[in-house]
Amino acid sequence: MSVSSITDVHARRVWDSRGRPTLEVEVTVGSGAVGRAIAPAGASTGSGEAVDRRDGGDAFGGYDVTKAIAAVNDEISDALIGLDAEDQENADAVLIELDGTPDKNRLGGNAMIAASMAVAHAAAAAAEMPLWRYLGGLAAHTLPLPEIQIFGGGAHAASRVDIQDFMVMAVGAEDYAQTLDWTAEVYRAAGALMSESGLLQGVADEGGFWPAFDSNEAALDMLLRSIERAGFRPGEDVAISLDIAASEFGKDGRYTLGLEKRELDSDGLIEMLLGWVDRYPIVSIEDPLGEDDEDGLIRFTAAAGDKLQIIGDDYLVTNAERVGHAAGVGACNAVLVKPNQVGTLTETRAAFDAARAADWGAVVSARSGETEDVTIVHLAVGWGAYQLKVGSFARSERMAKWNEGLRIADALGDHGQLAASTLFPWGR
Ligand code: PGA
Ligand code: ZN
Repeated sequence: MSVSSITDVHARRVWDSRGRPTLEVEVTVGSGAVGRAIAPAGASTGSGEAVDRRDGGDAFGGYDVTKAIAAVNDEISDALIGLDAEDQENADAVLIELDGTPDKNRLGGNAMIAASMAVAHAAAAAAEMPLWRYLGGLAAHTLPLPEIQIFGGGAHAASRVDIQDFMVMAVGAEDYAQTLDWTAEVYRAAGALMSESGLLQGVADEGGFWPAFDSNEAALDMLLRSIERAGFRPGEDVAISLDIAASEFGKDGRYTLGLEKRELDSDGLIEMLLGWVDRYPIVSIEDPLGEDDEDGLIRFTAAAGDKLQIIGDDYLVTNAERVGHAAGVGACNAVLVKPNQVGTLTETRAAFDAARAADWGAVVSARSGETEDVTIVHLAVGWGAYQLKVGSFARSERMAKWNEGLRIADALGDHGQLAASTLFPWGR
């Protein structure tokens, strides 16, 4: 038996940042080392995502995961024991075949991603390396530019505003630590402005301020003022990034802005967004149109793709084939990379590689339902991703990830390099 051969797989129920059940998997290998990972959960999910296995019924709003846990402790455990944790592709192929469904509904995407990530952690532990170093080897040196939410809306704030994420990117910062320093000041300034204007109502699912605005543009104005009040030059030091999450308020090319009581077609929404891009220092827009509106995405990319990062999330669902197709037809120029959207690390990596092959951007991302698990930070550094999206600058499920980045930056020392300087203005 080798030091990295899997000897035990165990799942237990733990709780996520929304107080909902999720599962944690521990994989033990021959050396005695243990790898552990927890499945996150989305709220504004794409229809093409791997399906989380939930119990349904009355307990915990139907969100319990006892069946997903049983799947790990029975079938998945039987299938993984004896395999080499260092062979991630093989372990993931075994999981995919065992599940046997296109959307991972039998074992559950949540069971599979926790098991898959725990295998990677166990392999790194057996090699006595942090996961980022195990994945990236000696070449790993890139710290991702954080994309950090200041206001949270859409499905994460009871649709209080239509747009889901109003974020900042500290594009002018010199290193990873400074991106967080600057964001902390912007977040604080935003809180003060909200409080002064009587709009402070607590925080949304990912820790951004709960937006009590009369229009989506009022949120943009407030974000711009927050950057200025914190003492930064908008666009040069700190730029704006949006996740429209348009699938949440649009279908079949019809979009209903609840806040402004307006209905728009694809071209109307595109025109509105292009107007924002003209008036505000916006460098990146995610899901500008619905996941079913490929024509709209192509038109938007043709109109703005040379000056703007256009990220597909619900539309691409971390699927390598979809990324390849979208690059071919000219829809979007970057992909959001969420491991639980596809269900295994190998498939996640394939989507990342497909983006690279197309000369696209790639943003490694958390979900709105998160935990203390910091795997995605290690993936971002280990794979050399240029950007990381984790939610806001509050609540420990978010801060655990930003802080893990600080630890990795410290370990890299002078070798570490923030990906920001070459990233924006849009150049990838
Ligand atoms: P979700 O939101 O985790 O609720 O899907 C994140 C996002 O849309 O980027
Ligand atoms: Zn999104």
